[in-house]
Amino acid sequence: MAGGSDKTFYLETFGCQMNVHDSEKVIGTLISQGYRQVATVEEAGLILYNTCSIRDKAEQKVFHRLADYKKLQAEGKKFAVLGCVAQQEGEKIFERAPHVSIVCGSASYRNLPEMLVQIEAGKSRVTGLDDRQTDECFETEFTARTNPHRGYITIIEGCDKFCAYCVVPFTRGKERSRTSESVLAEARRMAELGYTEIQLLGQNVNSYQDPLGKKSFAELLSAVGALPGIKRVRFTSSHPRDFGRDIVEAIESEASLCNHVHLPVQSGSTRVLYAMQRLYTRDEYLERVVWMKAAQREISITTDIIVGFPGETETDFEETLWLLDEVEYDGVFSFKYSPRPNTPALKYPDAIPDGEKSRRLAVLQEKQREIQRRRYQRHVGEVMEVMVEGKNEARGQWIGRTSDNKVLNFTASEARQPVPGSYRAITVTGSFPNSLVGEMVI
Ligand code: 5AD
Ligand code: SF4
Repeated sequence: MAGGSDKTFYLETFGCQMNVHDSEKVIGTLISQGYRQVATVEEAGLILYNTCSIRDKAEQKVFHRLADYKKLQAEGKKFAVLGCVAQQEGEKIFERAPHVSIVCGSASYRNLPEMLVQIEAGKSRVTGLDDRQTDECFETEFTARTNPHRGYITIIEGCDKFCAYCVVPFTRGKERSRTSESVLAEARRMAELGYTEIQLLGQNVNSYQDPLGKKSFAELLSAVGALPGIKRVRFTSSHPRDFGRDIVEAIESEASLCNHVHLPVQSGSTRVLYAMQRLYTRDEYLERVVWMKAAQREISITTDIIVGFPGETETDFEETLWLLDEVEYDGVFSFKYSPRPNTPALKYPDAIPDGEKSRRLAVLQEKQREIQRRRYQRHVGEVMEVMVEGKNEARGQWIGRTSDNKVLNFTASEARQPVPGSYRAITVTGSFPNSLVGEMVI
């Protein structure tokens, strides 16, 4: 139980890296207010959920959690719903889960201390739901980064693209970028603290527009990569419409920029892309793939795909399968289309039955598995550099990640055990569709 002098909180995060990073900001804010983070709901006085509403399943998760722990309210525990579901559902959350005390969207985290004071003073319900148009909530003086080697930096918030299926423009508001100066200052600070890997984040990270006009996205990437101490720079997610050749050129010329691009395609059919309002055709997408394939360094490409968008015919779906063969992705996140509130596609005719969506998803995933089996196998015999992420004690294997974002599990002799955060050369000795195995060389 939380007493006045021992304020404890438990935070669970759902969804994307933006949410993971937002949670780091929330954790820092709570700590600055005298709270202590605990590992279980039972130990906590305040239970927070940072939520995701990208698909219905993700949204339902938080309501299940709230139902599961409702009884703890009797012990005086307080509940808070943060993030995208909070922004989307607003005060309706109190109706559905009356034991919730705080509903706070991601643009309002800076108001959390004030909201907590009100709750501590006995107020039963508070909300923080900004209109999302004005906020510039990049300030991260309290950010409590949870990984001491890899740090996230949000460079652009929100989304202006309004894809027909997507709830993000409604939950995260308009696109707004942070100045390149402030991004670089933060990256430099992180390098000084010992971080060697930086991940630049944004819903459409490459739609970045420096408010002072000093650097393009590609220039910003190179500048972060050139900072002393920075060994790896990643960025996610990219929108194909704004993906310029200069990004490929930056990866070619700056070794610290990881040779991996996540470029969500969503569908291989131009007709479906048009209905999705994705702002590019299949050919325009493939043009970007050609740039990457022609690069001097091999660039690994991953993507997101939605199957069963309203009106998607068998032929459209086959075009997506064919695209998988053409691109040969190293990874695909695939989803069944999920109708979302406020989005235009909600009103589209020709919904695809759930059974058919499941069938298409299974066919696509099976095909991609075979592609990945081949793609991963190519590395056997190679020496690859990994950043050591930790150890799987049960299997006696270390876990590393390659520049091209593959997981490489490896063994090391008793005498020469690596430390997390270090970079090691590993000989790849085997492969699976989603990971590599190897032995540490040096
Ligand atoms: N249904 C299914 N998948 C979706 N995504 C976004 N909105 C939906 C939706 N309504 C997927 C897209 C996006 C990823 C983050 O989630 O593929 O790139
Ligand atoms: Fe959603 Fe499209 Fe914006 Fe991505 S680009 S966040 S899919 S609206």
